[in-house]
Amino acid sequence: MIRFEHVTKRYADGTTAVDDLSFEVAEGELVTLVGPSGCGKTTTMKMVNRLIEPTEGGIFLDGDDISTIDPVQLRRRIGYVIQQVGLFPHKTVLENTATVPHLLGWKRGKGRERAAELLDLVGLDPSVYGDRYPEQLSGGQRQRVGVARALAADPPVLLMDEPFGAVDPVVRERLQNEFLKLQAQVRKTVLFVTHDIEEAVRLGDRIAVYGQGRIEQFDSPATVLGAPATPYVADFVGADRGLKRLSVTPIEESDLDQPPVVHLDDSLATATERLRSQGARWAVVLDGRDNLHGWIPADATADATAKGTVREHARRMEAWLPLGAPLKQAFATMLQHDAGWIAVIDKESEGRFLGVLTPARLHEALRRSIDADAHDVPRAEVAVETVATIAPTG
Ligand SMILES: Nc1ncnc2c1ncn2[C@@H]1O[C@H](COP(=O)(O)OP(=O)(O)O)[C@@H](O)[C@H]1O
Ligand SMILES: [Mg+2]
Repeated sequence: MIRFEHVTKRYADGTTAVDDLSFEVAEGELVTLVGPSGCGKTTTMKMVNRLIEPTEGGIFLDGDDISTIDPVQLRRRIGYVIQQVGLFPHKTVLENTATVPHLLGWKRGKGRERAAELLDLVGLDPSVYGDRYPEQLSGGQRQRVGVARALAADPPVLLMDEPFGAVDPVVRERLQNEFLKLQAQVRKTVLFVTHDIEEAVRLGDRIAVYGQGRIEQFDSPATVLGAPATPYVADFVGADRGLKRLSVTPIEESDLDQPPVVHLDDSLATATERLRSQGARWAVVLDGRDNLHGWIPADATADATAKGTVREHARRMEAWLPLGAPLKQAFATMLQHDAGWIAVIDKESEGRFLGVLTPARLHEALRRSIDADAHDVPRAEVAVETVATIAPTG
């Protein structure tokens, strides 16, 4: 969708801001450009909508060489969001959002209708905020209006230059999450500039890590974090990249352990036997549809003379996650519930129990996922030396 071919930009004073850059962004893909200040991110972005012309090389949009497209026509195909937002202070939120439809000569009513729809989409109730002026909004709300305005003419491409850079970290995270949800709906081709590696990792389908005017690595967040291509990238992503990688690595079925399983209506005697035969200290308890109910500790079944069913002794299990949730969330859930394991369920089948994730298996999953990415094979096929299970003492 967007293709850079050997693009170089030298400014009049001799500064080479971008040096022989080649990359491609697929349709519907969100690519983050990340790097320190002054490395050429904004220059890259502004060449796409011809606010800056390259010195050498070509840029193609949907196969068309953009140097042959009239800049005004070109910009209609490209939404542009910047940190300073640039809302017109004397226009209302609704009017600001309808700017582009207005410029495109849409009928006033249609433009306002579209603007209201978009304000809704970015989480601003048009009946509350539509008639306000930009100064009557918080920083986060202004950024949302900026995003709504960029989407107004439904351009296939969005350029976003540090759009959430000016708001505090809490609001920024909220805007990022909202934007991800929005992007899942609108599926634009997005180039997103940031100097914040956390943001780049959270948002990007792929990330381009910039050195001085050049891309040092262009890959998925998990690969950049797990296998930095150069010492520069390793340094840039930080010493805690293993921890960061937890947030972009999903739980897979091959990561799970299979503990003994009993059902609510099983007799205690059956449960006792199953625990004993597997030498386990607890079993997972499922309901009649094989959905997670909870767990039962071995001591509840230890009395061989005990009568009744598992149901009376089962404990509810709050520490569970759907398959595909990030490992970081698994770790957080373990800590939150002070749990030595969490249950993993299948969201698709309304909660069927799939297995459990333990801290040792979580660590293993992370190590295997790094190897899997490095060798481009499924994680399930990677063997690592397993961490010996620590036998309970006493
Ligand atoms: N108009 C300009 N004239 C000369 N140098 C510029 C101009 N704009 C940017 N630069 C320089 O080009 C380099 C890249 O700038 P920029 O693309 O804005 O970086 P970033 O967005 O990554 O912070 C910097 O060294 C900057 O000082
Ligand atoms: Mg910049």
